Amino acid sequence: MSVTSISPRTLAINGGEPVRSTFLPYGRQSVDEADIQAVVEVLRSDWLTTGPKVGEFEQAFAARVGAAHAVSFSSGTAALHAAAFAAGLKPGDEAITTPMTFAATANCVLYQGATPVFADVSADTLNIDPGQVTKKISSKTRAILPVDYAGHPADLAPLMDAARRHGLIVIEDACHALGAEYRGARVGSLADMTVFSFHPVKHITTGEGGMVATNSADFAETLRRFRNHGISSEARQRQSAGQWHYEMVLLGFNYRLPDFACALGMQQLKRLDANLARRREIAALYTAALREIPGVVPPPVLPDANPAWHLYPIRLNLEKLTADRGQIFRALRAENIGVNVHYIPVHLHPYYKDRFGFRGGEFPVAEGAYARLLSLPMFPAMSGEDVNDVIAAVAKVVSFYSR
Ligand SMILES: Cc1ncc(COP(=O)(O)O)c(C=O)c1O
Repeated sequence: MSVTSISPRTLAINGGEPVRSTFLPYGRQSVDEADIQAVVEVLRSDWLTTGPKVGEFEQAFAARVGAAHAVSFSSGTAALHAAAFAAGLKPGDEAITTPMTFAATANCVLYQGATPVFADVSADTLNIDPGQVTKKISSKTRAILPVDYAGHPADLAPLMDAARRHGLIVIEDACHALGAEYRGARVGSLADMTVFSFHPVKHITTGEGGMVATNSADFAETLRRFRNHGISSEARQRQSAGQWHYEMVLLGFNYRLPDFACALGMQQLKRLDANLARRREIAALYTAALREIPGVVPPPVLPDANPAWHLYPIRLNLEKLTADRGQIFRALRAENIGVNVHYIPVHLHPYYKDRFGFRGGEFPVAEGAYARLLSLPMFPAMSGEDVNDVIAAVAKVVSFYSR
């Protein structure tokens, strides 16, 4: 389809006919009959919470991401909290992270009473800029938390180098990046701890859920205890050993992922490769078409990266447009295209402004990108027609507002 041949008919926001008659969300889960059967089977079994499916899912997941261990949690946020705990973050410590993320990445540092220190992002991938990170390392720094924004892996090599030189722990927030690769290695196999989310819009879902992958047996043990009240054994182990005694050895939480959720995760994991292939196909279609539209910039991919495409965030070339991002967002929504915005930079949220005194202007690259960002619909069940509708709507709206 030639994008340039689409005429700027009256926009739906101005009373014209929308590009499509039904709303297309920016993300959506895929749940099939086998998923439902797997969950039902567990519901009929003896173990609804920590049972055999938890270990099965964790082992399969660890193998898939190339890590020695994987520990499941009730959400990606709980997994981040646990990783921050296992890294030893405590009051007085600092952890360096990106403002271009969901607030949970920085919040996990606050949960530990430590202080998040933001470093600006690189203008291309919008991932944390290793040069900016180096400038923020102080005697208080204990951890670095890069995020694989939109599914494009962060530039981990210089971050790991800096961490090794300064004795820091790297917690990679890969909630967008299950299945991504960096320099030929799988995301999940590289950082000290790598965190994933199984929220319904992510690559695989357990309803709510998360995982930490690590090659360290010590981290894995601490993570397991932390998610289970700080107790050193699990109820099922005690039952099969015929024992009642247990010991609480650290202050943990109940962050367990139920057995039926893990059964769903096991099933979903089987479709991860097909899911990734479809996301990559959609991204390639978008990028080829959007290159032809002067008012938009498709997301770049660095040569050593194979992104997982959780999101497909375009940037508007505002200099070539007569409308701002808000107007283009509303016009696309009126065309029934469920665009979204990822992210409001974390330091600009009222909580962070009030607590740390941010005023805006501190992280010019992240803030400049934020004014231009729009995430297009991206999920594996999108049909070819859905993809064409998105391209047609972007072409229609952007050409209408072109200078
Ligand atoms: C980058 C990032 N980190 C952390 C999270 C938190 O994950 P969850 O929603 O599973 O708690 C999300 C979820 O949306 C995310 O996008």
